[in-house]
Amino acid sequence: MFRIGDDTALVQTVDFFPPIVDDPYWFGAIGAANAFSDVYAMGGRPLLALNILAFPVDLDRDILAEVLRGGFEKAQEAGVLIVGGHTVDDAEPKYGLAVTGLVTPGAQVTNVGSRPGDALVLTKPLGTGIITTAGKAEAAPAEVMDEAIRVMAELNRDASEAMLAVGVNACTDVTGFGLMGHLAGMVRGGGVAARLSLNAVPVLPGVRELLDDGIAPEGTYRNMKSVDKLARWDPALTLDDKLVLCDAQTSGGLLISVARERVARLLEELEARSVRGAVVGEVLEASEPFIEVVA
Ligand code: CO
Ligand code: CO
Ligand code: CO
Repeated sequence: MFRIGDDTALVQTVDFFPPIVDDPYWFGAIGAANAFSDVYAMGGRPLLALNILAFPVDLDRDILAEVLRGGFEKAQEAGVLIVGGHTVDDAEPKYGLAVTGLVTPGAQVTNVGSRPGDALVLTKPLGTGIITTAGKAEAAPAEVMDEAIRVMAELNRDASEAMLAVGVNACTDVTGFGLMGHLAGMVRGGGVAARLSLNAVPVLPGVRELLDDGIAPEGTYRNMKSVDKLARWDPALTLDDKLVLCDAQTSGGLLISVARERVARLLEELEARSVRGAVVGEVLEASEPFIEVVA
């Protein structure tokens, strides 16, 4: 956060990645929604952005144009002005944006302010890592992929506005480290612990079936391994349950830590903006392991 006045500060973030879906338009739209997400997680408003594009010189230019159109239209929806960018030749395409946003000093939200007793609210269902991995192997049913794309392309703006309207203690967006990894960062950094309820966590349709077929990305297994020492898993949980909670997300939802007495209002504010918030757990006094996962 860089203060430029009494009530204004700048924040900057950058994110880009290789294609996670076949359709270049939706790859662009998801890349943009994902890039803006960190600003929304801070309680900020993205304003300006620069495209970052890597593209093989011998690939069809129409594909490149579709990626940029997806990013541009998502930026328009977000009220963000794309003011330029840079393209390099690269064997594997990549797309994302460097984003500049505004926050109000004092109203910014970090990932480390949780207090014991807080409720943990998640604003998007999990499973995009598992579904996009299946998609690369042509193993994801069309309706499963379409819903995952819709969810990934959804801006976290409305969720961010809802949390600002209520006032919350901490927030992070759920991305590559999965729900467990980002929650671990939140509770360790905040000097607290958490209890997470598997059955309360929303999961995208089709994810369980893909797990039955043995489909899960490398990153999800890596996440599971890296949180293992930080978590106590209910013995009733299966390997697939753990993989869902550790699944590496792209453009995931916000994980919000909110005081008990404000959780009902937060859920109302989310619903008023057509965001489905789910209470997935609670914050506890510091203890080890940091996260207790119950069925
Ligand atoms: Co990133
Ligand atoms: Co983030
Ligand atoms: Co340039």
